Amino acid sequence: MVDQPALRQCLPTGATPEPLYAAMVEVVAAGQVSFSRSDVFGLDEFGGVPAGHPARCDHMLDRQLLSGIDLPAASWHRLDPEASDLDAECDRFAGLVAAGGLDLGVLGLGGNGHLGLNEPGSVREDVTRRVELAPATIESARRYSDDGLAPTWGLTLGLAEILAAAEVWLLVTGAAKADVLAAALQGPVGPDIPASYLQEHPRCMVFADNAAASKLATG
Ligand code: PGA
Repeated sequence: MVDQPALRQCLPTGATPEPLYAAMVEVVAAGQVSFSRSDVFGLDEFGGVPAGHPARCDHMLDRQLLSGIDLPAASWHRLDPEASDLDAECDRFAGLVAAGGLDLGVLGLGGNGHLGLNEPGSVREDVTRRVELAPATIESARRYSDDGLAPTWGLTLGLAEILAAAEVWLLVTGAAKADVLAAALQGPVGPDIPASYLQEHPRCMVFADNAAASKLATG
């Protein structure tokens, strides 16, 4: 899968994927991997903070990854929270994703079990849309802010499009995510923990460090 040069992938932002992106930049710089035939779709985007704000996902992904790889500008696709018609913007983005499908969906896990910005209450049929952020997500995003501003809403790829990816990777690090990771992988499947829908995905890889995996039941 990852050897496929024309990989169509969606990528998350946040603290979790930073080491992965640093490694990607290194292997691209070493000439071992190229993104020249890839398409990258931003998993989600915050609204309520201006373009260029450090909490913005496009800004963060550019800083962590895009500025260091050889992805053509036209192959970077993002949800635009400044669009005048957000429903049309979400339809446009979902159409681009659906046109070729996603080979790979890379995901972080929210402390409240969200995937992208599919907050608790989201169901597997939910498509790309505007969402209000859960209070925990607003507080989490505030970590990236340097001016006290925090997003209050967002645009996100829906669970329907995420679960339609041929393969998904869930990246989880740190003891603070141990309970929610156990709930997502070993608890009931449903909207309380949107990441629990990954249990139904035929090709879901979970990459967790020891701290995040510490509450998983074994045996
Ligand atoms: P984090 O965010 O990597 O900054 O913890 C994960 C997420 O909310 O998806």
